[in-house]
Amino acid sequence: MNRIYLFLISILQFHCVFLFDGLDTKKDNDSQIFLALLWNQPEGYNWNLPPGFPTPVVPSVNPMSEAKVELGRFLFYDRSLSRDQSMSCSSCHIQEFAFADGKDFPSGITGEVHPRNSQHLSNVAYHTRLTWNNPLMTNLEIQARVPMFGATPVELGLQNNDFVNRLNANPIYPPMFQRAFGDPSANEQNVRFALASFQRSMISGNSKFDQYNFRNNRSALTESEIRGMRIFNSEDGECFHCHGGFNFTDTAFHGNSGSQEFFYHSNGIHSDTYYLPLSNDKKGLFDVTGNASDIGKFRAPSLRNIGVTYPYMHDGSFMCDDANNPSKPAGIGKTKKDCARDALTKVINHYRLGGQSHSPKDTNLIKILPINDSQRDDMVNFLLSLTDEEFLTNPKFASPF
Ligand code: HEC
Ligand code: HEC
Repeated sequence: MNRIYLFLISILQFHCVFLFDGLDTKKDNDSQIFLALLWNQPEGYNWNLPPGFPTPVVPSVNPMSEAKVELGRFLFYDRSLSRDQSMSCSSCHIQEFAFADGKDFPSGITGEVHPRNSQHLSNVAYHTRLTWNNPLMTNLEIQARVPMFGATPVELGLQNNDFVNRLNANPIYPPMFQRAFGDPSANEQNVRFALASFQRSMISGNSKFDQYNFRNNRSALTESEIRGMRIFNSEDGECFHCHGGFNFTDTAFHGNSGSQEFFYHSNGIHSDTYYLPLSNDKKGLFDVTGNASDIGKFRAPSLRNIGVTYPYMHDGSFMCDDANNPSKPAGIGKTKKDCARDALTKVINHYRLGGQSHSPKDTNLIKILPINDSQRDDMVNFLLSLTDEEFLTNPKFASPF
């Protein structure tokens, strides 16, 4: 297990300001986020938290408000945020997939393929580190720069402030910016701040598991799902070590936790070989730190809504296939649930075999799991019980356009 201590990270954060600085003029404002390192409990905002959920902490420079969340929703779905106005954040983060996109790898406005799979955004407010493998991504305010301005790969492809002019010229925005920031004009930083507030509002906690576990509805889970949950939380299963807690990940921070916890692990998916070498952007934490011991390490994803976030892993390598017609593109003709069941069966088989003998891996936790096929199916059923249908259709998170 790899733990990086906070003092190290605060040094790294300065690099981040330069590494991901899309627009130089905003450097000072963003430094405030890092220098402050103060995270505040927001006041005057109603999170509407599900039972069992702690209050998220937000950077003191960007407190939550209804007005910012609402503005952020418009911006998240607005194609003005891409250079050629063809894509928005929602092109790769789609509500019905819990804000993942159902593909192995997404492409940006130039067609360039992203080296990693789109992540879901359920409960993103609680992650201490964002993205699959970048410990420099400490908050949503700074992360938004990557899809907006990033060039490796190009996502929304912005190169200047033209998008701000487009927003200011649209009559719906000045009153919304006024309400959110006390100033009717958009600017690059306020756009990112509003996007961050909207994403923090994406709380998901009404799955069948939540009803069983936090709402005391003992009939919400079937016998099979309960058996699967027991294996998940057992010392044989080991799953809970990396995917534990209310958000099913070990990288979390909130009002009840003392410190910002974050870890990176290798679960044996990584398959770099002499004959089939991987590029650095597929090598996990190594891509950022350059340490050989970090090859193949990724953040353990939150398993919330896992039933709709296939294909799985940073490389989308576990996807459903059409067993009757292998020439068809994966998943065509199947329901979402069948697709997820297919892909999750492959995931559990991977763990069952002790990580397919790929190395490197966390050998103390990724090891042969002695279960039979019916117990494997119980685990798949448990994972499918983590889907929160309400979240996938809640109009609060839907496109306003
Ligand atoms: C071209 C597709 C694409 C677009 C457009 C896109 N994203 Fe993403 N998003 C991704 C991918 C791929 C990842 C994983 C990134 C990585 O590991 O480096 C990701 C990761 C994230 C994460 C991290 C989630 C986590 O669990 O850590 C957040 C937050 C996010 N995106 C927000 C946004 C916002 C906000 C926008 C619009 C400004 C946006 N994305 C636009 C593909 C996209
Ligand atoms: C040592 C830590 C660790 C353990 C133990 C572990 N996982 Fe994982 N899990 C990870 C990491 C890291 C990833 C992402 C790997 C990647 O993308 O290459 C992952 C990915 C997944 C995914 C895909 C998530 C997604 O969004 O793509 C599922 C499902 C999953 N694990 C389920 C389980 C189950 C079930 C168990 C127990 C049998 C388990 N994990 C045990 C670390 C772990």
